[in-house]
Amino acid sequence: MSSLAGKRILLVVSGGIAAYKSLELIRRVRERGGAVRCILTEGGAQFVTPLSLAALSEDKVYSELFSLTDESEMGHIRLSREAELIVVAPASADILAKMTQGRADDLATTALLASDKPVLVAPAMNVRMWENPATQANLETLKARGVRSIGPNEGDMACGEYGFGRMAEAAEILDAIEAFFARDAPLAGRHALVTSGPTFEAIDPVRFIGNRSSGRQGHAIALALARLGARTTLVSGPTALKDPAGVETLRVETAQEMLAACEAALPCDVAVCAAAVSDWRAKEPQAQKMKKNGKTPPELVLTANPDILACLAAAGNVRPRLVVGFAAETQNIVENAQAKLAKKGCDWILANDVSEGSGTFGGEANTIHLIDGQGAETWPRMSKDDVAAKLGARIAETLNAGVETLTS
Ligand code: C5P
Repeated sequence: MSSLAGKRILLVVSGGIAAYKSLELIRRVRERGGAVRCILTEGGAQFVTPLSLAALSEDKVYSELFSLTDESEMGHIRLSREAELIVVAPASADILAKMTQGRADDLATTALLASDKPVLVAPAMNVRMWENPATQANLETLKARGVRSIGPNEGDMACGEYGFGRMAEAAEILDAIEAFFARDAPLAGRHALVTSGPTFEAIDPVRFIGNRSSGRQGHAIALALARLGARTTLVSGPTALKDPAGVETLRVETAQEMLAACEAALPCDVAVCAAAVSDWRAKEPQAQKMKKNGKTPPELVLTANPDILACLAAAGNVRPRLVVGFAAETQNIVENAQAKLAKKGCDWILANDVSEGSGTFGGEANTIHLIDGQGAETWPRMSKDDVAAKLGARIAETLNAGVETLTS
């Protein structure tokens, strides 16, 4: 369900009874991880309310060209600039005509004229209007300019007539949107597994061993891989972060649960272990809260947790083709990371400089050295989102080329 993860769609709802289907379309796009921002024309507002669109898109709905608030919050240029695809559904005969002529007399037509983004129209109108040579010529012109079109379908019409003019169903428009985005998704058809966040290991029902990992880097990587078209499973320890859109997120607490969830998610093409897994857990977690009996504090006996990264790298015939781990280092970063790569049996290590003053822990940015069996590459300091995007692109390149070293 992550086919549209992180994709941004600007939906123009123009006047037509089919506007009710656009409500369903918003829901379906969002289920697949896409974000929808809506422009509602005056005609469209006769059929659906801004409140319905806002509730389903969980975003503000824009309709006024000369509204001071709309323009100061989000100019019409930005509305289209921030979208990757503009969908006009329903596309009335009138809006198709205006698009053809390049008119800009309301917010929807102005945003369309001001945009160089791909446009998909779903015409919806009375059969006579559809068959009118003017409409047909308009659509031909738009198609010649690169506008994509879906429908209309044949059937009974709200006006009592029969014929072509019914807007394509939400599921069909969704298919067209997915096909548009799938075209060039470099990780389409791949499965990615990502671990993120800390683990919490119970000492007793109220106390645990944990760490300060925020999960930001791991979550960003999961989203980046989903955006590149991979079906992505994120196994996350306890964090305050929202589940990334379009990513199947499994929440766990302990290292053992994290390992079980990862193993259940196999097979996958790539595994990225970004979780800060607790190395140890209490050997015998207490079933009841430990009491302060007497003066001697209880002794905490620890036992080792499984190494999830090493387990995935040694998973035999279900070993992911690419296994990527992280290493936090304060000195001899590259040497230590190379040793870790060998010890864990993974393909790449992203070594983080967490020395004092690096600001990596809990911060927004990371300095990364990417290490494989052949060598090391240092990335400039960048945000965790940029690290995720760069790593995602590198993973896509590697899986698609079938090459697994930096230097070959
Ligand atoms: O050994 P160290 O904790 O430094 O290794 C860090 C890497 O190993 C990270 O990628 C982390 O997600 C992974 N790891 C793991 N399971 C453990 C410990 C570390 O997957 N129990």
